[in-house]
Amino acid sequence: MTKIAIIGFGVVGSGVYEVIRKNAGEITEKAGTEIDIKYILDIRDFSNHPESNLFVNDVNIIAEDEEVSVVVETMGGLEPANTFSRLMLSKGKTVVTSNKELVATYGDELFALASENDCAYYYEASVGGGIPIIRPMKNCLSANRIESVFGILNGTTNYILTRMFTDNVSFESALKEAQEKGYAEKDPTADVDGFDTGKKISILSSMINGEKINHEDVHTEGIRGITLIDTEFAQSFGYSIKLIGSCRRVDDKYSVVVAPMLVKKDSPLAGVNDVFNGIMVCGNMLGDAFFYGRGAGKLPTASAVVADVIDALRSKDISFKAPWTKAIGNVLVPYDKIECAMYVCLKETDDETVAKVCQVFGNDLKIIVKDGYVAFITGKDTISAIDEKLSKINAKVNNKLMIL
Ligand code: HSE
Repeated sequence: MTKIAIIGFGVVGSGVYEVIRKNAGEITEKAGTEIDIKYILDIRDFSNHPESNLFVNDVNIIAEDEEVSVVVETMGGLEPANTFSRLMLSKGKTVVTSNKELVATYGDELFALASENDCAYYYEASVGGGIPIIRPMKNCLSANRIESVFGILNGTTNYILTRMFTDNVSFESALKEAQEKGYAEKDPTADVDGFDTGKKISILSSMINGEKINHEDVHTEGIRGITLIDTEFAQSFGYSIKLIGSCRRVDDKYSVVVAPMLVKKDSPLAGVNDVFNGIMVCGNMLGDAFFYGRGAGKLPTASAVVADVIDALRSKDISFKAPWTKAIGNVLVPYDKIECAMYVCLKETDDETVAKVCQVFGNDLKIIVKDGYVAFITGKDTISAIDEKLSKINAKVNNKLMIL
């Protein structure tokens, strides 16, 4: 029997408890040992819980108990999750987390601490909720050099964009719906401004790079600027609009960006709708592989956490290898040097502007003039070169989005 503790009994933590109780038979068989939840740490009152005897509010009780070998951290946020995780790792206890903020910010230090103390730090649920992505990238794709990862990594924004795109609902109304359905946070900034996606793509990018790629250095745009005009134009050009976390290898550097992008209708990513997530990984031997499923929610995310606990128990005799170390140099391609094609929407319709667009960007452009706007798709160039060309056209840029 293996004793574990859960620290943080919110949505995911209570889901972990539920998964372990409901699937006890399968989990014991797969882990090769029965998993016994010895403690649950939460400062809130759970005296009415059927197993209220498990609840403690002093982290040291868990840290000092040598019987506990695995600790599940489902608190979220940086503190006290960071302090508690370090405490457990320093005591040689393996920590399993769903905390993307902590992994993205201090993952390199926590991995190093785990190695020093002969334990491990697992983080499958920190990206893509219940979708297997960390382990497939680490194990199944390990014979490949990963060339790119493009992911719809935030369910809230994908719900909003889907409602805008398929039902013509405005951004404000779709956000309100997402909040009513409990997808978005009360303060939806982390979701709609792209920061949640930024942390997740920085985790995947750090894995690929082997050294930390700091989420704060990643160019990040959210979806507040997308209007129904853009979704209509994208539709007419044969694209969908998705908030994409992207990481592409460019020689010995990486272009890492979070931004709403136009995605070709026939790409599997364009078919990822509502709160679902989808991640396209390209390996140099395999080509593309696509991962799809529920990127958030209590039981999907908890199932990924419990899978890590099972993996930790099965692999307890294998020494832990840090997936990435601290950053040594800057490996990011500067945003304005990234090469891409772009969708541009100008708030003009006069013939002179259309003629100027063709003169500057070339005559074979796809252009649509509609409802007071001119929209077109540029050829592939650096972002700075596209901006320079746009500055030659005397027109207000309504929106400008990368093409994936
Ligand atoms: N707010 C996040 C989302 C939760 O909407 O995807 C999962 O990280």
